Amino acid sequence: MLHQDQVDQARKLLDHLHGRTTALAEGVYRNPVTDYTCPQQAARERALFFRRFPLCIGLSCLLTKAGDFLTHDYAGVPILLVRQSEGPLRAFLNVCRHRGARVAEGKGAGARDFSCPYHGWSYGLDGALLARPADGAFAEIDKAGCSLRELPLVEKYGLIWTSPTPGAGFDIDAHLAGLERDLAAYGLASYHHYETRVLQRRINWKVAVDTFLELYHLNVLHPRTVGPILYSNLATFDAFGRNLRMIGARRTIGALRDLPEAEWDLIRHSAIIYVLFPNTVLIVQGDHLETWHMFPAGNGVDECRMYASLYTPEPALTDSARRHWDRNMELLMATVEKEDFPLSEGMQRGFYSGAQREVTFGRNEPSLQHFHKSVAEALAASGGGIGG
Ligand code: FES
Ligand SMILES: [Fe+2]
Repeated sequence: MLHQDQVDQARKLLDHLHGRTTALAEGVYRNPVTDYTCPQQAARERALFFRRFPLCIGLSCLLTKAGDFLTHDYAGVPILLVRQSEGPLRAFLNVCRHRGARVAEGKGAGARDFSCPYHGWSYGLDGALLARPADGAFAEIDKAGCSLRELPLVEKYGLIWTSPTPGAGFDIDAHLAGLERDLAAYGLASYHHYETRVLQRRINWKVAVDTFLELYHLNVLHPRTVGPILYSNLATFDAFGRNLRMIGARRTIGALRDLPEAEWDLIRHSAIIYVLFPNTVLIVQGDHLETWHMFPAGNGVDECRMYASLYTPEPALTDSARRHWDRNMELLMATVEKEDFPLSEGMQRGFYSGAQREVTFGRNEPSLQHFHKSVAEALAASGGGIGG
């Protein structure tokens, strides 16, 4: 975030703190419970968001050198990301053009080509078919037409986005709708990957996103984890198209009042939460960055598979640095995995009880409101609508 924006946002937070207020939506929003339970809606979300939208994969540091590769299956489509010899990243469907086997597994470094484990067709880092054993048996099929199918990919602001449908290109700045101003200022291209954890829970993928979208619950659910760190029920809210930014204040923020504005560093005194629509939550967390990427799993309705990553501005080279980042990861998991998600699973079961047809997002929960309005609006804009 640019310094002038930090000053503007810090002023808002200090005003909220002074007046015991928080950013408010215009009214209460009643979100239909079917948003979390309807199989038809879940199928439309999969077809639209998880097939055609740009999906943030993570930071550029996941693949730094030529020949680094990463397979990614969370969206339900086998994706292979490869760093090219000349530097750019490319993404392909991880599907052999002979009979469809996966040409790569997991992740790795220093690959010069990918040899399919089934019959040995081999592909270059650029996806081109290099060789096929018993080539004469396939001579009537031109090799040039047997490249791995390429997916659109954008690497910008130190982040990677791809979309799982060949040919479904996207304009990432149009999608970010102004949020790129903050992202560009963080210098994420020089960040380092520390750790990623994969979680699977019995919740709709949007419940997992919701977890991060209000601070109303902090001192009730998290009195021993993040409650002592951040003020409860105090946050800013700004929409950027379908994306959003919500800033929470650390309990240290009052220290800014004693400094000239030119020296204000909001990042040290806040947690800045972004939704990169549809399914990524990116959190600028004081001295490091956390990302959460949520995907529908199983039937797509009440199962979510997600990965959470911790990135650091400097590589973790010493034991004391590693202990520091380990403690941060433990705090994150103690909060989200041990406190938020068990409660979320109870909510998901309760959705099927018939207790109510709607859940309520208060005026003090504008980020939740915006996220769910954006989901509904995007589905409607694609011709699907909700509940039909
Ligand atoms: S399926 Fe890949 S070589 Fe046959
Ligand atoms: Fe929480």
